[in-house]
Amino acid sequence: MTGIEIEPLGSAAGARIHGVDLSQPMSGNVFGQVRQALLDHLVIFFPDQHLTPDQHKDFGRRFGTLNIHPHVKPLAGHPEVLNIVKEPGDRRNFGGGWHSDMTFQQEPALGSILYAREVPATGGDTMWANMYLAYESLSDGMKALLDGLVAIHTAEDIYGAGGVYTNQRTAMVTMAAEQASGRAEHPVVRTHPETGRKLLYVNEAFTTKFKGMTRAESQPLLDFLCRHATSAPFVYRHRWQQDEVGFWDNRCTQHYALNDYHGQRRAMHRVTVNGDRPY
Ligand code: SIN
Repeated sequence: MTGIEIEPLGSAAGARIHGVDLSQPMSGNVFGQVRQALLDHLVIFFPDQHLTPDQHKDFGRRFGTLNIHPHVKPLAGHPEVLNIVKEPGDRRNFGGGWHSDMTFQQEPALGSILYAREVPATGGDTMWANMYLAYESLSDGMKALLDGLVAIHTAEDIYGAGGVYTNQRTAMVTMAAEQASGRAEHPVVRTHPETGRKLLYVNEAFTTKFKGMTRAESQPLLDFLCRHATSAPFVYRHRWQQDEVGFWDNRCTQHYALNDYHGQRRAMHRVTVNGDRPY
């Protein structure tokens, strides 16, 4: 049996995987260990990788079909690869707020695979929050209140006209702002389809209200849940290394790309694996 070495990084999430070359086809045995590491640690990192966009996509396809983002311009010639770049002159970054990827879609992402091609000398870390811990640490009374509650997730506040990317000078071009109509209903407490564990499934970027309630009625509870979900004990913060690949389980985490490196360049490629309908 081929062993890979797993180095835990944080108590809330995070592990570094040694002994895997993602540019090469992966045996079923190694794939199984990587998949288990993702389930156990929520976000896993592979140092010193050298991937073409096609190899990056091939790795992602081991886990499922690949997402084509409806609002972000892809890497030329690779519709499944997001070219996440902040140039020295840009002020806004991509992903600079707590969110889970694509929750405005009916079948949100299983996970995203980020390849660090150019990292700033300082700053540009990413944080992940563990949504199992967020749920498990709630009181029994709050768990009972959330049981059966459904939330509305939409793309409008982020990608729509008047959304956070409108009129912002950025190297990344968002498309079709007037069509940012992605909308989905998801349970507020989701069961992870592989681990069977319950987790809190709302995020401040895309969750706008609870089904059957107004925004104003929903906001106080939503604010509490989003703040609670990203409390310090549930968070792992990662300092990127050049040529590192990070892979997060988007079903049970939220993430936040820090925007603290103005004047420097940061460039990543992201491949996103489609997931299934939350229950
Ligand atoms: C994102 O996918 O939200 C961006 C993450 C990052 O650039 O660190």
